[in-house]
Amino acid sequence: MTKTHSQNVIVFIGGGIIGLSTAYNLAKRHGTHIKIKIVEAFGKTFTAASSTCTGCINYGFTRDLVQLIGLGKYSFDLWAEEAQRSTASSNGFIQLTGYRPRSCFGIEPEGNGQGLDLLPDWVRRSSSWNVDDQVLGAHTAMVNPIGVGEWITKQCLDLGVEIQTGVQVVDITLSPENQVQAVTCVKKGTGGENCPSLTRIKCKQVVLACGPWTPTLYRTLFPLSPIHLQWNTDAGDWAEWENPCPTTQLTTAFVSFAHIIGEKLEFAARNNGTIWACGRRNLTAPLPPTGQMDKPDPSLIQELNDRALEWINWGCRCKETTHRQLQILSSGRAFRPASKTGLPIISEVPSPDLTGGGCSGDGSNQSGVFVCWGHGSYGLTLGMGSGKLMSQLMSREKTDIDLSLFTLGGSQSLHGDDGGNTGAPGKL
Ligand SMILES: Cc1cc2nc3c(=O)[nH]c(=O)nc-3n(C[C@H](O)[C@H](O)[C@H](O)COP(=O)(O)OP(=O)(O)OC[C@H]3O[C@@H](n4cnc5c(N)ncnc54)[C@H](O)[C@@H]3O)c2cc1C
Ligand SMILES: *[C@@H]1O[C@H](CO)[C@@H](O)[C@H](O)[C@H]1NC(C)=O
Ligand SMILES: *[C@@H]1O[C@H](CO)[C@@H](O)[C@H](O)[C@H]1NC(C)=O
Ligand SMILES: *[C@@H]1O[C@H](CO)[C@@H](O)[C@H](O)[C@H]1NC(C)=O
Repeated sequence: MTKTHSQNVIVFIGGGIIGLSTAYNLAKRHGTHIKIKIVEAFGKTFTAASSTCTGCINYGFTRDLVQLIGLGKYSFDLWAEEAQRSTASSNGFIQLTGYRPRSCFGIEPEGNGQGLDLLPDWVRRSSSWNVDDQVLGAHTAMVNPIGVGEWITKQCLDLGVEIQTGVQVVDITLSPENQVQAVTCVKKGTGGENCPSLTRIKCKQVVLACGPWTPTLYRTLFPLSPIHLQWNTDAGDWAEWENPCPTTQLTTAFVSFAHIIGEKLEFAARNNGTIWACGRRNLTAPLPPTGQMDKPDPSLIQELNDRALEWINWGCRCKETTHRQLQILSSGRAFRPASKTGLPIISEVPSPDLTGGGCSGDGSNQSGVFVCWGHGSYGLTLGMGSGKLMSQLMSREKTDIDLSLFTLGGSQSLHGDDGGNTGAPGKL
């Protein structure tokens, strides 16, 4: 067996949508000429926000986020291409994800029944509502995020990507020229607390795709760096129930009740017979340690259950008499990777900026350290596009979209300085 030269090894820290979609695009581009290794702290890929999100793919961005429309459309179209390829070759994408275009709806309380027939059967409708099919913009699709995780993990494995789970990256070794040489990992549950099992992976490039944990890890790895990834905590508590209506392709849908109750509240039915809901954001919840889950607020989960009782059509399977015993199948709390600017970072870190000094030998500033982070409320939507652009950047090719809005370092940069970036509102 030939040993892969570290020249050709690329390490991804984080196996959420961002790490996996970048690895997928990179592996498609280079085949077996490179060796891609994904290191994920949880015992499974797609465990954090990537699997516990609503599942909307949309880019009707407004206000401060209009700058993201270009990236949003680019990414939306790439997802649509996967769906098209799926119909042609049955690669399992639609089957696993339940991908359904034009499936996001909003309830308008003061109405006369316009568009009611657009609503899926699992919503208990009222003739005094109108239904807005552009609530998330003119271009939407729904997926089951768990299915997206299964699909993209399989694509990566089929392309030869190696995935290590239950493993946390704790250190990066740089050369005197500030270029990455290796990462150090700790495997959980081995070696005991006083003697953790450490491994070193030699590599030529490393990508920080650690979701909300990225800013903290960056600071730990590069304590002298003048770049400060500025972020806000932005958690979402969620719950899910069994869908009382029979599951068909048409029941995969998103329905927002935000305009009825005056704050974020959304239901999403999946291709696997469940209905998922998430309520208002929690902007104070502390981020749990790497590889750990956090519990939701019990009072918010109770609220979500009450809303579900009110608006889900529990009579669908003539279960009306038993609906008061409504059972929550599961609930949890997920953290959005929210940058203060509201924009993601899709960038290499210039080598001088890793330590606040030093220069790469060739004067190119190429450190081999990349950051793909900060997709906030839209990581599923933007993941495929960001992943493809990141793979072009890492391959030293011209990117399909100009990335200057998303670039770290240099005087033009919007990111990483200590200056007063204004927070951007997410979707309601
Ligand atoms: C309630 C809710 C609803 C949402 N709805 C939508 C939606 O409808 N549409 C949409 O587009 N987006 C939505 N989002 C946003 C979307 O979920 C996120 O933007 C996206 O999942 C972020 O992906 P990620 O890969 O950056 O992060 P994550 O999914 O958090 O993945 C990062 C991974 O990195 C790992 N990691 C961290 N540190 C280390 C380390 N040191 N070593 C090894 N591994 C490490 C973590 O364990 C984690 O698995 C929603 C989010 C929430 C919370
Ligand atoms: C259905 O998907 C949800 C998440 O979308 C998941 O939590 C649940 O375990 C899945 N259920 C089944 C029966 O596959
Ligand atoms: C946010 O979460 C914290 C910690 O779980 C909780 O104490 C607080 O009440 C929550 N805030 C909101 C607005 O739900
Ligand atoms: C190298 O990075 C530094 C710090 O970000 C920047 O000021 C400089 O312009 C960069 N040089 C090149 C050649 O990109």
